[in-house]
Amino acid sequence: MAVMGSWVFRLLVIGSTFSVFWGDIEVGCYAEGEKDHLVNFITWDDMKVDLRKQRLDWREDKYNKSRVIVVDQSGHGDSVTVQGAVDMVPMHNSERVKIYILPGIYREKVFIPDTKPYISIIGVENRTSETIITWNDKASDKEKDGSELGTYRSASVAIESDFFCATGITIENSVVAVPGAYGNQAVALRISGNKAMFYRVRILGTQDTLLDDCGSHYFYQCYIQGSIDFVFGSSRSLYQDCVLHSTAKRYGAIAAHYRDSQEDDTGFSFVNCTINGTGTVYLGRAWGNYSRAIYSYCDIDNVVTPSGWSDWNQPSRQKTAVFGEFQCRGKGADRRKRVAWSKSFSYEEVKPFLDMTFISGEKWLRL
Ligand SMILES: *[C@@H]1O[C@H](CO)[C@@H](O)[C@H](O)[C@H]1NC(C)=O
Ligand SMILES: *[C@@H]1O[C@H](CO)[C@@H](O)[C@H](O)[C@H]1NC(C)=O
Ligand SMILES: *[C@@H]1O[C@H](CO)[C@@H](O)[C@H](O)[C@H]1NC(C)=O
Ligand SMILES: *[C@@H]1O[C@H](CO)[C@@H](O)[C@H](O)[C@H]1NC(C)=O
Ligand SMILES: *[C@@H]1O[C@H](CO)[C@@H](O)[C@H](O)[C@H]1NC(C)=O
Repeated sequence: MAVMGSWVFRLLVIGSTFSVFWGDIEVGCYAEGEKDHLVNFITWDDMKVDLRKQRLDWREDKYNKSRVIVVDQSGHGDSVTVQGAVDMVPMHNSERVKIYILPGIYREKVFIPDTKPYISIIGVENRTSETIITWNDKASDKEKDGSELGTYRSASVAIESDFFCATGITIENSVVAVPGAYGNQAVALRISGNKAMFYRVRILGTQDTLLDDCGSHYFYQCYIQGSIDFVFGSSRSLYQDCVLHSTAKRYGAIAAHYRDSQEDDTGFSFVNCTINGTGTVYLGRAWGNYSRAIYSYCDIDNVVTPSGWSDWNQPSRQKTAVFGEFQCRGKGADRRKRVAWSKSFSYEEVKPFLDMTFISGEKWLRL
């Protein structure tokens, strides 16, 4: 990877050439539509790197905008850390930048601020399990000032920017939570940016593995592992053809969706996913009065508690939570002992949750 110094320089130049209109930068969640002036689409191309072609193009066509930053622990790339590559992306970046990570175990915390949209993190095809970003913070860990980190800040990888994609990598929080122990929440991935796609990404943890915080997200063919509330947050997300793998020794829960109002278009929809592993877990727990989680066409192994769903010890939520199942199969899909307030959806009821239209994919995905 020669002459990368000047390549990085070029990146910065392009970044400053495009002056992007951007209002006040929001931190955390924002109302849908607020940033709709960022009209763009995520395509398969955003999840591919053809180094030879793209570097060739760079030499021959100085205006080519296929930009790739190579992360290589052996020092032959542009950065030896993932965060180092993120730091090279210019603020208010307006063109896709691909961070190509060569196999290795990257022991670091990664943060992508909302001022850096259009970033892809791409691992080498079929080597997902060998390309690992891992850290081990948990909620009860202390900050330098003595305050507790909390669940939110425990994330090994935290993304706050829009139009993010990732493929071919493993994101891990290596803390092994002791059930019931104080402060053992340990997030592997927090995604708070809007319009993000994860394709063939492995997300590993135990308690609170994936903080699907806010925005609209598409998880396709991902593997998500944990024991307690291991997919949680207030996003609107479609999980398609994913594996949800429970590592619970005894009890646990898969989805804890947070939704406060009937007007919110948020929810977790799991379509054609495989649910397996150990222990007995709830399909979902009602975090917030209007929590919404739906499982359709899923293959559910014998790891789901027969009652299926929990009201989070708030009986009033039984009236308002939206917990549904549609045409699932497997030993854990038997609905005969399910809590009466969960629903077996009709096709008409489940239809809005079955495909990308649930996440308004027509506005931001071109796959
Ligand atoms: C840059 O290279 C890519 C990949 O070869 C090509 O598809 C694209 O058209 C090029 N863009 C420009 C602006 O030349
Ligand atoms: C990755 O695996 C798929 C399916 O086994 C195969 O078709 C493809 O060629 C592999 N890609 C690479 C780069 O090895
Ligand atoms: C369901 O997921 C499996 C892999 O888990 C895949 O082989 C199959 O094609 C998917 N079915 C549909 C209808 O998408
Ligand atoms: C869970 O399902 C996935 C996808 O079908 C499979 O690869 C994995 O081996 C299964 N794990 C167990 C423990 O059954
Ligand atoms: C949730 O419902 C309970 C019981 O109806 C109510 O007291 C509470 O205020 C509601 N919470 C929110 C955030 O609306």
